[in-house]
Amino acid sequence: MNRRTFLTAAGAMGAAKALSFSAQAEALEESMIAELDARPIVRSRLCNFARPEEEIQAELEATRGHLKQMGNDARLALMPEKPTLVDFFEKRFAPARHLLQSGALALESGLDEETVLACLLHDIGVFALARNDHGYWGSQFLEPYVSERVSWAIRYHQALRFFPDPSVGYEYPASYIRYFGKDYEPEPYVKEAAEYAKNHRWYMTARQITINDLYAFDPDKNPTLDLFIDIIGRNFKQPKEGLGFDGSPVAHMWRTVIWPTNFL
Ligand SMILES: [Fe+2]
Ligand SMILES: [Fe+2]
Repeated sequence: MNRRTFLTAAGAMGAAKALSFSAQAEALEESMIAELDARPIVRSRLCNFARPEEEIQAELEATRGHLKQMGNDARLALMPEKPTLVDFFEKRFAPARHLLQSGALALESGLDEETVLACLLHDIGVFALARNDHGYWGSQFLEPYVSERVSWAIRYHQALRFFPDPSVGYEYPASYIRYFGKDYEPEPYVKEAAEYAKNHRWYMTARQITINDLYAFDPDKNPTLDLFIDIIGRNFKQPKEGLGFDGSPVAHMWRTVIWPTNFL
């Protein structure tokens, strides 16, 4: 606590109530401890739905008396004022091996640049926002900055990955049997989305995402973002104000990733 804050706090306390000197000192010490402590993270409601209410309340109770986290969180890498997609990769999504490996596979397969970009960014929803419905989150997150085909393909890879296409050698991922059980059936909306996507002119772009999606992590491959810098430069419309500050309909989503631990 600096001198000015100290004097303001002391003045406010003295003025509000005629506290004894020891009571003032105690209150001041308490507020200094609170300020020095790492500000606790209060989890978003989305992370709390399946938890017992008592547990959530106990956690909130433990944050009483602490200042709440707002703005730059010292536990996270500081983002520049005008962040680019590369900054987000480096300072928020890293190591992002699944994205880099999928993008690298698409590059090795000689696919066109937009499809490579779609493969590189296909699970950005998981890395930035939420696992559930990640294709939709990711697609919306990127929509103002990539071609319509790229965001469309990212949206529909979510449904298509559940449905084999023997004509291009795509099988149901073995890992999904481990994850979801052998009798798992996707929700009706997922089936409908896959049916719709199969008949769409951009079907193969979304299908390529599922083909180049690495369902098993390969520890021997460690591609870096350098491989994709030119492709990003040509196919990602970086806003000059920085992602999060360009007033786009999804700017708030990027800001949420910049300051993910804000209390409100
Ligand atoms: Fe995915
Ligand atoms: Fe994936």
